[in-house]
Amino acid sequence: MTKKIAVFPGDGIGIEIVAEAVKVIECLQQEFGLDVEIEEGLIGGAAYDETGSPLPEASLDLARASDAILLGAVGGYKWESLDISVRPEKGLLGLRSELSLFANLRPAILYPQLAHASTLKEEVVSGLDLMIVRELTGGIYFGQPRGIRTLDTQINGKPERQGFNTLVYSESEIERIAHVAFKTAQKRDKRVCSVDKANVLECTELWREVMERVGKEYPDVELSHMYVDNAAMQLVKAPKQFDVMVTTNMFGDILSDCAAMLTGSIGMLPSASLDQNSKGMYEPIHGSAPDIAGQNKANPVATILSVSMMLRHSLAEAGLADKIDQAVAMVLDNGGRTIDIYTEGTRQLSTSEMGDEIVSALKSLNV
Ligand code: IPM
Ligand code: MG
Repeated sequence: MTKKIAVFPGDGIGIEIVAEAVKVIECLQQEFGLDVEIEEGLIGGAAYDETGSPLPEASLDLARASDAILLGAVGGYKWESLDISVRPEKGLLGLRSELSLFANLRPAILYPQLAHASTLKEEVVSGLDLMIVRELTGGIYFGQPRGIRTLDTQINGKPERQGFNTLVYSESEIERIAHVAFKTAQKRDKRVCSVDKANVLECTELWREVMERVGKEYPDVELSHMYVDNAAMQLVKAPKQFDVMVTTNMFGDILSDCAAMLTGSIGMLPSASLDQNSKGMYEPIHGSAPDIAGQNKANPVATILSVSMMLRHSLAEAGLADKIDQAVAMVLDNGGRTIDIYTEGTRQLSTSEMGDEIVSALKSLNV
């Protein structure tokens, strides 16, 4: 049966990079018999401009009716002064939460071809292959109560205000992300490092306790714990010590940017956000980069690799996913580089040239 892919380009470079990923999907349809249909929807600032909402009902319906979702990026200067409740980011957060996409997989893999594009020494990062499992629909991002309230006190001659957010996790929320982390580790090097701040925050004291409990069901996987401040330091100092890291929504947001940069460019890394049934949304981990939007400069590889993750996790097409991964490696081997990963002696490509080269490489694999 034809599977349906919802495509949300979003804002900024989202539009350019998703166009390249769509070329890849179309090549798979035409040359490799992939049976999918694509339908585009609005999200983020683009949706706000058109409908007044960053996540219009029609987009939500489209996402619900699809087997998988491909998303570019949301946000930009233009919408920065909007109320937080209608900011582009709210569209993305709404989609994650409405579809219960609680498990966010963020691999950080260093391509050998890019070992010297990292700001870290080659020996620190070469061979790096770690997976961050970030809880995505709970924690401080969604906890209630939240807001800005007025106090009885005064500041600068005006009533003083107080901002507040709530860090909450229920045991069932922690359990389900723990299972994802342990199952992911079983397919890898069988080590999970759970990152928390259990020395200060009760919520993550509970996190640690539940991780231990669930860990007993996976005796083949080694579980360790690390405080988040130390984890940030260790990621920069000796990142290869990690196999799978599992952590809360906000810690995962921060650590995954850090891990991404170890690989040379945030423009290389895809992500998957999955629900209980492996329905998923796939997106690059970088943002909308409004500073370079519309210039045909952005790196589409993270989005193209997100298509590969989609084929693997939601569309049961691991063979085609391997082909995309291979095609990307071939282009890197041939010296193709967008500006973010360009080094002397390589060939600088635009966004669309990178997409075209990956598509040609893919075609050459169809023998
Ligand atoms: C990410 C992004 C989002 C997040 C923003 C755009 C809401 O930084 O996917 O990491 O904080 O989750
Ligand atoms: Mg982030």
